[in-house]
Amino acid sequence: MKYHICTKFATVEKCFFDVGLTVFYMKISSSQMFRDLSKWCFGALTLLFLTGAFNAQAQGDALFKAKCATCHQVFKDGTGPKLYEVRQKWSDGGAAEGSILQWVKNWNVAAAADPYAQTVSTWSETAMSIFPDLTDEQITSIFDWVDSQVEQSNDVSAVPGVVANVSDEESSLGWTWIILAIVFIVIILAVGGVRRQLKSAAAEADGEEYDEDMSYGDELKQFAWANRKLVAIGTVVVVLGVVVTLFLGLYSIGVVEEYQPSQPIEFPHSVHAGVNGIDCKYCHNSVTKSKSAGLPTVNVCMNCHKQIAGATPEQAEQIQKIYDAAGFDPAGGGRYTGETKEIIWNRVHVLPDHVYFNHSQHVEVGGVDCKQCHGDMTTMTETAKVRSIEELNAVEGNIKLSKKTLTMGWCIECHKEKEISNGALDSKKDGYYDEIHKRLMDGDKELYGKYLEDGKVSVMELGGWECAKCHY
Ligand code: HEC
Ligand code: HEC
Ligand code: HEC
Ligand code: HEC
Ligand code: HEC
Ligand code: HEC
Repeated sequence: MKYHICTKFATVEKCFFDVGLTVFYMKISSSQMFRDLSKWCFGALTLLFLTGAFNAQAQGDALFKAKCATCHQVFKDGTGPKLYEVRQKWSDGGAAEGSILQWVKNWNVAAAADPYAQTVSTWSETAMSIFPDLTDEQITSIFDWVDSQVEQSNDVSAVPGVVANVSDEESSLGWTWIILAIVFIVIILAVGGVRRQLKSAAAEADGEEYDEDMSYGDELKQFAWANRKLVAIGTVVVVLGVVVTLFLGLYSIGVVEEYQPSQPIEFPHSVHAGVNGIDCKYCHNSVTKSKSAGLPTVNVCMNCHKQIAGATPEQAEQIQKIYDAAGFDPAGGGRYTGETKEIIWNRVHVLPDHVYFNHSQHVEVGGVDCKQCHGDMTTMTETAKVRSIEELNAVEGNIKLSKKTLTMGWCIECHKEKEISNGALDSKKDGYYDEIHKRLMDGDKELYGKYLEDGKVSVMELGGWECAKCHY
């Protein structure tokens, strides 16, 4: 990398430098300085625009993973067909214009209007979810992202799973940073060039000798040596910055606060668990018995909805979907047609595979209320979502925590804060905790001293901080 400067204000000076990706060619002379400056601005704007394009990519990427990846892969059929160049496929197959966008919003509507969409809907027994909340622009960004993917022989990376997900997002972020870095290097070099010219001009005016052959690198070295304290501090700051950014990036992996996927039926908890006072366990019936809470089958819905068809057209439209799924025709007293369809609810709360979480342990044994982790579902008028920690802290009776919901910090913090009761849970737990307390109090005071120091026994002290309790 060499940077030549002509002291004689020649009209054209050349500068080449290679930043690994691009070779920039620039001319700097005092008469051209302003024109060149505007060129630089233009270049910077173009790069910023490119960064914008990358963000659109990132949007498509994120949406695909959040909404579609449970059923679709880019290059392979799964629950749904592969999506690579699917727009091309639809237009080749004679689909109506815009039909594919309608398909994603609500495939029922598209299938009714477009014969091609109708044939697609018979691809499998499984029905696709509907996404009425996606805009045309968002759907297009998904397809753009899918089509921009490059097939790799390695199946794992061609199938965006949770792991690939993280690295992909990081690399798209990485691109933004590389571009910004290039912009800055260019600006610094340009400014440096102008400064050198001014300096040499000044030196000439003073009748001094200016070492015009000194390379840019040499000058940089000289500058660094003259300002070594500053440079040292600067380096430390930059390195620290990079480390902290990387660390925070890692720390927030998988943070899904506020996540609210769209659902096949707009099911409001407020109407059911709230107004109609239905017990959570009526629908999530394994919550006290097993690891997972479970979601209700369509039969559970039909227990009531056989009679309740909805008072308003909006309600009727949603409840009709229950009938479609159950294969129920409400006309004339109602009868089952036998043509059932599965309702596929999108999972809202998801922990990574390497984490073990057990509902019955928390709800039954620990006596923790659903509200503590899911917020007040009886007032939830929309479909379920992961509540932010601020929302959870606002619920009366909840232990106040500071870490983001569903992160490791969140689990651990509660295990430290949550005291297991002495006696209060007696009747419900068959003296489970009483027994533990008794053993601690009556046992070896020295051995159990650390538990008794503050007179409290928290989940942590029972082993709730041991890695293996939560990690397989
Ligand atoms: C619950 C699973 C599921 C989800 C989630 C899902 N799809 Fe589908 N999708 C399907 C199935 C199944 C089909 C095939 C049609 C059928 O059998 O009804 C399909 C078909 C399609 C097709 C037509 C494919 C073709 O080859 O013609 C497109 C396009 C499509 N989906 C886009 C999307 C997009 C975009 C998303 C995310 C916003 C999405 N899907 C989310 C299950 C799903
Ligand atoms: C009439 C049945 C019914 C009752 C009663 C009910 N739920 Fe649900 N619940 C559902 C359905 C259906 C879904 C899936 C749709 C959604 O995500 O909104 C769901 C989803 C959820 C989710 C999100 C699940 C996920 O994927 O992570 C939570 C949390 C939840 N319910 C908690 C509760 C709590 C707490 C109560 C009691 C206050 C309750 N539910 C009462 C039917 C019910
Ligand atoms: C200590 C916190 C905590 C409490 C208390 C809690 N949950 Fe959960 N819930 C979670 C976590 C964490 C997940 C995600 C689990 C996973 O991905 O394995 C989850 C997932 C769910 C799901 C969806 C997935 C599944 O397990 O089927 C439902 C439904 C649900 N909870 C309902 C309830 C209900 C109803 C109650 C109260 C009776 C309750 N939860 C109490 C933390 C909690
Ligand atoms: C214990 C009885 C009961 C069960 C079980 C039940 N519902 Fe309901 N549902 C009701 C009642 C009552 C209403 C209110 C109807 C009204 O206001 O006219 C309702 C209303 C609805 C509505 C319209 C809500 C609105 O205001 O937009 C939907 C959608 C719905 N239920 C879906 C479901 C689904 C899906 C299931 C199964 C997971 C289910 N329900 C299970 C009793 C029940
Ligand atoms: C609101 C407080 C709270 C939160 C949040 C919470 N827990 Fe717990 N956890 C408890 C309580 C209380 C117990 C004690 C139950 C018992 O005594 O077995 C417990 C016990 C456990 C145990 C058994 C520990 C042992 O010693 O056997 C595991 C494993 C566990 N939790 C995992 C998790 C994971 C994973 C998360 C986060 C996704 C989580 N918990 C979030 C309150 C919480
Ligand atoms: C109370 C439960 C609990 C305990 C105890 C626990 N973890 Fe975790 N850990 C989690 C949860 C939940 C996640 C997933 C967090 C996420 O997805 O953001 C996780 C994630 C991780 C990750 C992945 C990085 C990340 O941030 O997602 C590592 C590594 C890890 N834990 C290491 C450990 C080690 C080492 C210990 C013991 C010192 C430990 N964990 C103890 C619940 C726990």
